[in-house]
Amino acid sequence: MTKTLLLGQTLRFLADPFSGAPEDIVRTDSRGGVLIEHGRIAALGHGPDLRRAHPDALVVDYGDALISPGFIDAHMHYPQTAMIASWGKRLIDWLNSYTFPEEMRLADPAYAHEIAARTLDLNLAHGTTTVASFCTIHPHSVDAIFEAAEARDMRIVAGKTCMDRDTAPVGLRDTAQSAHDDSAALIKRWHGQGRAIYAITPRFSPTSTPDQLEALGALWAANPDCLMQTHLSEQTDEVAWARALYPDARDYLDTYEAHGLLGARGLYGHAIHLEPREIDRLADVGASVVHCPTSNTFIGSGLFDMAGLKARGVSVGLATDTGGGSSFSMLRTMAAAYEVAQLRGTPLHPAQLIWLATEGSARALHLGGRIGTLEPGAEADLCILDLASTPAIAQRTAEARDIWEALFPTIMMGDDRAIRDVWVNGVRRP
Ligand code: GUN
Ligand code: ZN
Repeated sequence: MTKTLLLGQTLRFLADPFSGAPEDIVRTDSRGGVLIEHGRIAALGHGPDLRRAHPDALVVDYGDALISPGFIDAHMHYPQTAMIASWGKRLIDWLNSYTFPEEMRLADPAYAHEIAARTLDLNLAHGTTTVASFCTIHPHSVDAIFEAAEARDMRIVAGKTCMDRDTAPVGLRDTAQSAHDDSAALIKRWHGQGRAIYAITPRFSPTSTPDQLEALGALWAANPDCLMQTHLSEQTDEVAWARALYPDARDYLDTYEAHGLLGARGLYGHAIHLEPREIDRLADVGASVVHCPTSNTFIGSGLFDMAGLKARGVSVGLATDTGGGSSFSMLRTMAAAYEVAQLRGTPLHPAQLIWLATEGSARALHLGGRIGTLEPGAEADLCILDLASTPAIAQRTAEARDIWEALFPTIMMGDDRAIRDVWVNGVRRP
């Protein structure tokens, strides 16, 4: 089997870069090398050394470009691709005006397949090799995204979005029983098939009855290695709505917890307006929250407390939340995360930003060590970042004194033009 040696700049994280001074936790190599064999990373090291040790390897020399793990978008909605950047609403009106009408169009399986393929092609063009996506209530929308990922050999997390309450429009409603049974059938069909992972997906408490949450909690208990994804405390109106619909709950998180939907493999999108008890419980059970900064500014949701949650030991992933988010690009998403953190007075180091978009999101998805890293043994999902992709970025990078100064302008100003190449499971995408 052919060995491929990629040459370029590399970063190696010794630990979570939020656990100390980022510069001490990352090893950089301006002439690094990543050896790929059998779809996996076989070695990470100094380029010239690897070249000498593997004279039979096919060499791809990326020069000064950065060899990064492929980006991992830990929360997005592929059915919303065609309505991204819809103007002027806040969450509940935005859902009713734009989101639900578009999701109804996926009742047509051909349209669902078209949007699934379009989304994954956009993801790859932006350097994103794995997404965790919501689908629609239609089971065929789940088949569509898993089939599109399979055709591209991408690792993917997805699940049927469940909504049985009259707060969701007729036409986008299932029942507690059908949500359970359809999700169970989809788990059987897809979970663990190739690179597919199933996430049980109640949209959020306001569109589910307690019976539906209970049924999905039971399904999770019966399939504990599945992930569970949902939304939590995105906007203050939404928090009040969830509290009103679940008067016995101690807080928003408790609407999930009381129905078996709080656990280590749970992914809670947004998580902005949290009570102290909610933060404690998320930390105690080892659940993950997912930061969606372009969405949180675009829909006007609020400023995520990265520093506070990381200091409390909560696992955090990073995501676009397409189409609530305003970009498919994890570079744009890192830039927004930086700006939101600035507004909270706690700027993020470029090492922390790139880690969140790769290893941080991988850990949130319980795929740490398998994707999101250049460490040997990991699946070879990579994105090659051109650090001088536009004249504006290039003139700034030319002045850089170290890798962080060279990388940060691409994080702040880069987009799909910075993606020089993408490798999926050891194969370069055309
Ligand atoms: N809360 C419930 N559904 C959604 C959605 O589709 N997008 C966002 N941003 N928040 C939600
Ligand atoms: Zn979402």
